[in-house]
This record gives sequence, structure tokens and C-alpha cells, in this order.
Amino acid sequence: MRGLFITLEGGEGAGKTTQAHRMKEYFELQGREVILTREPGGTPEAEKIRALLVQRDGGNWTPTAECFLFFAARVMHVETLIKPAVAEGKIVISDRFTDSTVAYQGYGHGFDLNVIEQVRQIALGDFEPDLTFVLDLPVKEGIKRSMAQKAVASGAENTEDRFEKLDTSFHERLRHGFLEIAKFEPKRVKVIDATQGVDGVFKKISKELSMLLHA
Ligand SMILES: Nc1ncnc2c1ncn2[C@@H]1O[C@H](COP(=O)(O)OP(=O)(O)OP(=O)(O)O)[C@@H](O)[C@H]1O
Ligand SMILES: [Mg+2]
Repeated sequence: MRGLFITLEGGEGAGKTTQAHRMKEYFELQGREVILTREPGGTPEAEKIRALLVQRDGGNWTPTAECFLFFAARVMHVETLIKPAVAEGKIVISDRFTDSTVAYQGYGHGFDLNVIEQVRQIALGDFEPDLTFVLDLPVKEGIKRSMAQKAVASGAENTEDRFEKLDTSFHERLRHGFLEIAKFEPKRVKVIDATQGVDGVFKKISKELSMLLHA
């Protein structure tokens, strides 16, 4: 059976991790072997780079340096985990991938989209996900969800600062960025309205998955 590489994208609190687990169950019920992974990170080396990118004391990188760090982590992830697993017929589901770099660093922070594309080309060549879901949520709703989640998780030491402290206009650019990516690549990237409940969102995802499996 053909392996698959599927990615989940969208802003904070959009439901990526929740839906990644739903997708894993869905495929496992069909007897498929599934690997859940995430970016930045996913392999020991890439997780070391993740710490440089997302932890408070990770370093003060310039945008170009940051772009290279994301792709250095991604190359390790693709070459040592994703490609070998897909070649063995497994289904790899990644919570974020290149589209997040384009949306956050490019659309969000204004880093040159052409430079990102050039680095992507050198790092990954023509390798790309078989299918990508952009979980689309109004900015306010996403912030509400991730705040609620934070409240539940508080008590646990959280050293990762992430991108959540950024202002609303940043999140609007981010959302727009993901929608633009989907507009440019409608075959690979499916926008999913993430405002409904978990089951409703997954129903839309599973429709796309079954089309992919029967393509
Ligand atoms: N469809 C949904 N409707 C309502 N709440 C949801 C839905 N999906 C997820 N949630 C809740 O919203 C919060 C964020 O979900 P989740 O962690 O899956 O998002 P995420 O996109 O992975 O966020 P992050 O970018 O912070 O990792 C969780 O508390 C989750 O239980
Ligand atoms: Mg998550």
C-alpha cells in the first residue's frame, strides 16, 4: 500500500493536534500504520533546533537565520523520519510543516516569500505533502480556544513561549496567509472551516481523506 504524508496547518488553537489524533484513529481502523509528528521538531536533532526557535532563551535570531533554522530542522525531519516511513507504506501526519513557515515568517512577519521559497527548494526539492488541511478559524475564536487550553494546562511548567503573545493584526495576517497558500495550491491544500465541534470538523476532513485514498 502506498504511504502518505499529510499535514495540518492553521493558527494556534485551531484544533490541529485534536484532529491529528482523530486522523490517526481513522487510519488505524483501516489497518494502516500511522506516525504522528510535529514541527518544528519530530526527530532528536530537529527537536534540538526547536528549542532554539520556540524557547524563551533560545536565541535572538535574525529572520534569515530563523528561516534556515526552520528548514535545517525540516530537512532532518523529512530525510530521517518522513520519507523512510512513507517509503514503508506508513501514513505520516505532521502537526505543521512548510506552510507554517510561509504563513508565520512570510505573511505574519513580512519575511521575503521568495527567499523562503528558494530555501525550501534547496532543502526539500519537489517533496511536499500529499494533502494539507488548513484549519480556518476567526482570530478571536482561536485565541479563546488556546487561552482556555492554557488555563487547563497551567500548573505544568511551560517554558515554550510560542507565537501566542503576538497581536491580533499579526493573527489576521497569519490567517490570510494560510488562505492564500490554499488559493495557490488548491489541489494539495484544503481549507476546513474549524468553527464547528470536533466531530463536525473531522467529518469534513474524513471526506477529503476518503477521496485521497480512493484517488
Ligand atoms: N472543533 C473544536 N471545537 C471546540 N473546541 C475545540 C475544537 N477542536 C479543538 N478544541 C479545543 O481547543 C483547544 C485547542 O485545540 P488543539 O490543541 O487541538 O489546537 P492546536 O491547533 O493544536 O493548537 P496549538 O497551535 O496551540 O498547538 C483544545 O482545548 C481543544 O480541546
Ligand atoms: Mg497543537
